[in-house]
Amino acid sequence: MDKILITGGQRLEGEIENSGAKNAALPVIAASLLTKGWNTFHNIPDLVDIKTIKKLLGSFGVVFADEKGSLRINAEDIQSCTAAYDLVRTMRASVLVLGPLVARLGEAHVSLPGGCAIGARPVNLHIRALQDMGAEVELKDGYVIAKARRLKGATIYFDIITVTGTENIMMAAALADGTTLLKNAAREPEVVNLAEILNGMGARIIGAGTDIIRIDGVPSLHPVEGTIISDRIEAGTFMIAAGITGGDICIRNCHPGHHDALIAKLRDTGMEMVVGDRSIRAIAKGRPRSVDVKTLAYPGFPTDLQAQIMSLMTVASGLSLMTETIFENRFMHVSELMRMGADIAVQGHSAVVKGVPKLHGAPVMATDLRASASLILAGLAAEGRTELSRVYHLDRGYERIEEKFSRLGAAMERVKA
Ligand code: EPU
Repeated sequence: MDKILITGGQRLEGEIENSGAKNAALPVIAASLLTKGWNTFHNIPDLVDIKTIKKLLGSFGVVFADEKGSLRINAEDIQSCTAAYDLVRTMRASVLVLGPLVARLGEAHVSLPGGCAIGARPVNLHIRALQDMGAEVELKDGYVIAKARRLKGATIYFDIITVTGTENIMMAAALADGTTLLKNAAREPEVVNLAEILNGMGARIIGAGTDIIRIDGVPSLHPVEGTIISDRIEAGTFMIAAGITGGDICIRNCHPGHHDALIAKLRDTGMEMVVGDRSIRAIAKGRPRSVDVKTLAYPGFPTDLQAQIMSLMTVASGLSLMTETIFENRFMHVSELMRMGADIAVQGHSAVVKGVPKLHGAPVMATDLRASASLILAGLAAEGRTELSRVYHLDRGYERIEEKFSRLGAAMERVKA
């Protein structure tokens, strides 16, 4: 397995180009199941998770044509509606095919994904919503089997805000009979991107980006050409990298409006944040000040940046209280950061981070994508060498990360197994 070697202590400076968002691309690719004919999507990132969803759709009979940064998808001829365990267990977002398959074919067999490094992550709300829309759902041999000749519009209240749940049901409702109202819906930019692309296919969705989404079902959808938004978590990771290395990094091709929570937090640490139309320049101003962080659904502080900002807090001046409210087990990076000299105490859903003047390099590994990113950031700031293993987590969600960091002046290389 590949490793990433980092020699810390370099000040990072320069520009990076923000890649397309993994978590926007995945539902949009799943949405192509709702159409017959060639869809074209631009700004698709080159990531392992994208390969996984292509493999999954390919197993149903969907065909693809790759062009540089774009993906053409044709779901005209679907021969299977079974999402097998082998693929689903490697990527939980595979559950995004559930809604589109039931809506398009009247039936879906989707493996339950099972446990996960950051929490139990059930899909009960996806299932409940499909039942509310008239689907018959049973759980058999580890699979969700959902059937409905035609889904019916319904008013659905999500007990907990769920991003892929909102997306799944929005896709299902696009082809349902009648009007669906999603209440307490997720407001993430990725949901809005999906709604806009569905509307381009002929869907009638209003309210995406608010907590009430109205979907008037239509009998059929047509293929579309659409563009994936830029990845706010990748952009945020590089902003934090500027802070932790005393650097100055400009992120180009991003959507500054998606970053209000992070920009405010980084300003509180003392960083200067220069916000342009499609760019953000993050400039460190000496040692960061400690800030408290609580993760929340969008537009709150993203859980997908909690591990990375914790790395920044490990070298800040003072005490920081980090509270994770989205996932119950998302502090797996803490013990690795402590091996690098961080001073962190975890209690339940909170962690108290006492900033230290310096971290030191160490061999580390992480159990999930964002935790791996936090260890890269810690390695960039640490004295000496950090060796990060299990790099496959990073490859799921960060495009050419070592190339991007190296161009900014990081001493970072990938060692092939
Ligand atoms: N939840 C339930 N029941 C459900 C669905 C969710 O209890 O049926 C709970 C979850 O267990 C969790 C909370 O609701 O405690 C929120 O989970 P959500 O469903 O919003 O998460 P998700 O849709 O599975 C997406 C992203 C995650 C990101 C979360 C939160 C994609 C493909 N994944 O996951 O991204 O952390 O929203 O913002 O969009 C990542 O990219 O590293 C990643 C984990």
